[in-house]
Amino acid sequence: MSYQIHSCKVLSQKEIAPNIIETRIQNKELAEQAKPGQFLHIQCGDPISMPLRRPISICDVQGDILCFIYEVKGRGTKALQSQTETLDILGPVGNGFTVAPQTYKNPAVIGGGIGVYPMLYLTKQLPTASAYLGFRNKSLVTLEEEFKKAATFLSVSTDDGSYGNNGFALDCLKKDFAEKQFDIIYACGPKGMLRAIQAFAKEVGVPCQISLEERMGCGIGACLTCSCETHEEGAGKYQRVCKNGPVFWAEEVVL
Ligand SMILES: Cc1cc2nc3c(=O)[nH]c(=O)nc-3n(C[C@H](O)[C@H](O)[C@H](O)COP(=O)(O)OP(=O)(O)OC[C@H]3O[C@@H](n4cnc5c(N)ncnc54)[C@H](O)[C@@H]3O)c2cc1C
Ligand code: FES
Repeated sequence: MSYQIHSCKVLSQKEIAPNIIETRIQNKELAEQAKPGQFLHIQCGDPISMPLRRPISICDVQGDILCFIYEVKGRGTKALQSQTETLDILGPVGNGFTVAPQTYKNPAVIGGGIGVYPMLYLTKQLPTASAYLGFRNKSLVTLEEEFKKAATFLSVSTDDGSYGNNGFALDCLKKDFAEKQFDIIYACGPKGMLRAIQAFAKEVGVPCQISLEERMGCGIGACLTCSCETHEEGAGKYQRVCKNGPVFWAEEVVL
């Protein structure tokens, strides 16, 4: 894998929910290479005082414009928020989702919290997909219209029942499973949710791909900060989320 740094023009940074920023950038080369599930490793602010880039997933690509959405959490994402001219971006990084509509004709896409964002570009690339989105509460519900257009079926849930279905997105997917007979599940979200999805996919015998989020350093496979445990023995036991992932087959990884 070759890694390239791109200088990207920032077109907009917009708060679409409390502390949730949608950013649009322009870069033809990056847009042409981007695949669903890959991420951008972004220089957030001054590289001397903050040398580590921050990983953010690609949410959408339209022509030469890319969109990503991030939650403002700490120093990096706070600094990112104030970058309104250009962004220095390494990417696209990592292995994305397997898009294979000839093999998987009836996919379910499930995202929780910030894990919803990378699923939009994936859903757009699938000819048919049922999308299950989970948010903590109504104020954080985002991208509903976009998913409505991209998916053949959409279910939105909130943990506190303040919007859509009351409870977890996975419970809705489970309820529909017998009727819809999904032949693959694609997932991104908090570890607890991924663990539950991994167990469900195993129970019903359906292939499942999950996108992991680990703290990252280099983003190019050199520092081992982002290691995750797998069921392999020997040298392959620990894999790097940045290089071998972030998307893995669910049965490969120990969560
Ligand atoms: C492959 C990948 C894709 C991601 N995509 C998105 C995305 O699309 N949108 C988005 O909002 N966020 C995404 N993240 C998470 C994002 O990278 C972190 O929230 C960000 O790096 C935090 O940086 P910070 O300097 O603002 O916060 P820090 O000051 O570094 O940390 C603030 C808090 O966030 C925690 N944290 C930091 N990094 C992570 C992480 N990787 N996973 C879990 N907790 C973390 C820290 O432990 C701390 O509690 C992604 C992470 C990965 C690995
Ligand atoms: S972040 Fe350095 S190896 Fe993955």
